[in-house]
Amino acid sequence: MIENNNEKILILDFGSQYAQLIARRVRENNVFSEIVSHNITANEIRQINPKGIILSGGPASVYVNNAPKCETAIINLGIPVLGICYGMQLGCQMLGATVKPTKTREYGRTSCTINNNSNLFKSLSKDIVVWMSHGDQVVELPQEFESIAHTNNCPYAAIKHKHKAFYGVQFHPEVTHTPLGINIIRNFLYGICGCNGKWKIHSYIEKSVNDICKQVGKAKVVCGLSGGVDSAVTAALINKAIGRNLSCIFVDNGLLRNYEAEEVIKTFRDNFTVDLHTIDAKERFLTKLEGVTDPEKKRKIIGHEFIEVFKEEAKKISGVKFLAQGTLYPDVIESIPAHGGPTVTIKSHHNVGGLPAELEFELIEPLRFLFKDEVRKIGEELGMPEILVWRHPFPGPGLAIRIIGEVTKQRLDIIRNADKVVIEEVQKANLYRSIAQCFAVLLPMSTVGVMGDERSYENVIAIRAVETTDFMTADWYRIPNELLGLISSRITNEVKGVNRVVYDISTKPPSTIEWE
Ligand code: XMP
Repeated sequence: MIENNNEKILILDFGSQYAQLIARRVRENNVFSEIVSHNITANEIRQINPKGIILSGGPASVYVNNAPKCETAIINLGIPVLGICYGMQLGCQMLGATVKPTKTREYGRTSCTINNNSNLFKSLSKDIVVWMSHGDQVVELPQEFESIAHTNNCPYAAIKHKHKAFYGVQFHPEVTHTPLGINIIRNFLYGICGCNGKWKIHSYIEKSVNDICKQVGKAKVVCGLSGGVDSAVTAALINKAIGRNLSCIFVDNGLLRNYEAEEVIKTFRDNFTVDLHTIDAKERFLTKLEGVTDPEKKRKIIGHEFIEVFKEEAKKISGVKFLAQGTLYPDVIESIPAHGGPTVTIKSHHNVGGLPAELEFELIEPLRFLFKDEVRKIGEELGMPEILVWRHPFPGPGLAIRIIGEVTKQRLDIIRNADKVVIEEVQKANLYRSIAQCFAVLLPMSTVGVMGDERSYENVIAIRAVETTDFMTADWYRIPNELLGLISSRITNEVKGVNRVVYDISTKPPSTIEWE
């Protein structure tokens, strides 16, 4: 477990879509936070000894059978507790309040009036805007509580217990639609929990490096570099801890973007002292993909071939005990069942196509408590180039699933060159960081065109650009028309074999981000 100053906030998850957001807001205030199942016991919490506890929201109603609960003893530990929405209702119910469905449900922006100067609202004006999203609310409060804020429809928009450090807010301070929500969270962390806010990415790096040294000792670690930021930062952190006892394996499967392989190799050769093994497996992958058009078959072949190549190379390195992986916190959280069960199990697809099981190495995952933006900050602190740190996500099967139909060398050249134009122009227009992912797709068809006085019958490129934070849902990005025009004309002029460019304006759902 990695944290600094032993200062931690535990977030008990009752199935809220905002649990991750709460964790991020706490960390943005320089306090480490961790999401745990609501089934955690008071005893376990006592051992962890957090500075504060947040009970998240959740989709259930506290009065129904099987509603997710937590031990009442948690509220009596003497550790400050903040209940948010469902978390407030649950805490209040456990302490004797009544919760019922509301007559008028409150959703969206709502004016909220602060009743008195509670330290939760320190330095806030009397009237604030908050984001509400509830169909139930506390209707009766025992004497030991006081209401510290209300709205037109909700007399207990925020409450505090008179004798225990229990606070509750019916609204969501973690979302940006509650403009002063971050101040409320800060008041809870600093004014109520007494946090000192020394959690910084830099101290995280130091702590992480120490932990890796302790875990690994003199053993060797092997890490697969993919070209993406997660595996690169994983390798950089481990390298800082154990130097050349880290061996990195970079498999060039021929399905990478323009100059991607060269950039990764150069970054690690120039900046780190790792034992770098680069394997040119381009032909091997192409041969296996010959004649294959089914997307899932492509994925399986590529995943399987990667394991084979990686295994062959890893076996050549003697004394390897650990396999490093760039698993991130959202992957870990997703695998915590909101309604109980064992805490953390990693989803199988994050085990790089089953590598750990096959190789019987112990896993080492230095990023498993970090969000993507925190990983990027670490990358920057460790001196990694911007191009690597801010690179858009790229699927494991690479360009193979952006070529609809058969993957051939010629079609790879077309897609790589078209993709290069898209990325170059988006970067020049300073839009690269506002777009979550953008790329070119090669369609399995030819269309008629005219070039000079000649008829042409050539390929179609589709451009895809999306905005999203979680990649589960996405909107198509409104690239300005002039820029789209520029990209289109550059592709048809510069990429041999293309005479038509189209723009994908579908959202996810019903579409997906990738075309295959
Ligand atoms: P979709 O297409 O499902 O993509 O909307 C969501 C995110 O996942 C990436 N993606 C993949 N990543 N292996 C991966 O490692 C895959 O097979 C794969 N398919 C999609 C996609 O690029 C997007 O970021």
